[in-house]
Amino acid sequence: MTSTVRLLFFAGSSRTGSYNQKLAELGAKIAEANGIASTFADIGDYPMPLYNGDDEATSGPPENAYKFKELMAAHTGIFIASPEYNSSITPLLKNTLDWVSRVREPGPSGAEVYKTRVFALGSASPGGMGGLRSLTTVRQVLELGLGALVLPDQFAVPRAKDAFGADGHLHNKESQEIFKALIQKLARAAHVLHG
Ligand SMILES: Cc1cc2nc3c(=O)[nH]c(=O)nc-3n(C[C@H](O)[C@H](O)[C@H](O)COP(=O)(O)O)c2cc1C
Repeated sequence: MTSTVRLLFFAGSSRTGSYNQKLAELGAKIAEANGIASTFADIGDYPMPLYNGDDEATSGPPENAYKFKELMAAHTGIFIASPEYNSSITPLLKNTLDWVSRVREPGPSGAEVYKTRVFALGSASPGGMGGLRSLTTVRQVLELGLGALVLPDQFAVPRAKDAFGADGHLHNKESQEIFKALIQKLARAAHVLHG
């Protein structure tokens, strides 16, 4: 596909050995192997204080919120691998999404970036449901809260402890093909939106 499509992959966990980071890294690898330019990012490299309106009023968003907004803006499609915490989104992911939504200039605002990128969601969990329930919340934040376009398809890796091989690929080849199809769909959607 000759286009400006660039996909960003990141996870809502910065834990060492995070299964969701493994999923996001695998996504970037699959995209590259299929000729789709992609970036994997660790949101742990963009630490931000817990959102507080007083801090924002005094100092504005933290520097890393600007940096992460720029990273998102440099990509046309974004895949988020979301861990499930008590059937919901992680504080780390919500805090990151919230701070980015508060960034205004320079360049497009965070709000504009959310509205002009296409998203796809996945999750990985040691449990049997693969963290799927967290995605309802993530989808709500992105679609209803931020006006983003989120693909209806989503991908889950249950029993994540045993799901990844040493090379980062999924042992279950059928499952990996489903993931690949989602990534290709994300790239097509980004192409339609951005050329
Ligand atoms: C506070 C908390 C709540 C959790 N709740 C769930 C849950 O509702 N469903 C689930 O499948 N796993 C749950 N887990 C387990 C996580 O899926 C597991 O820690 C996973 O490894 C987190 O993702 P990561 O590997 O990407 O860091 C929870 C973990 C924590 C710390």
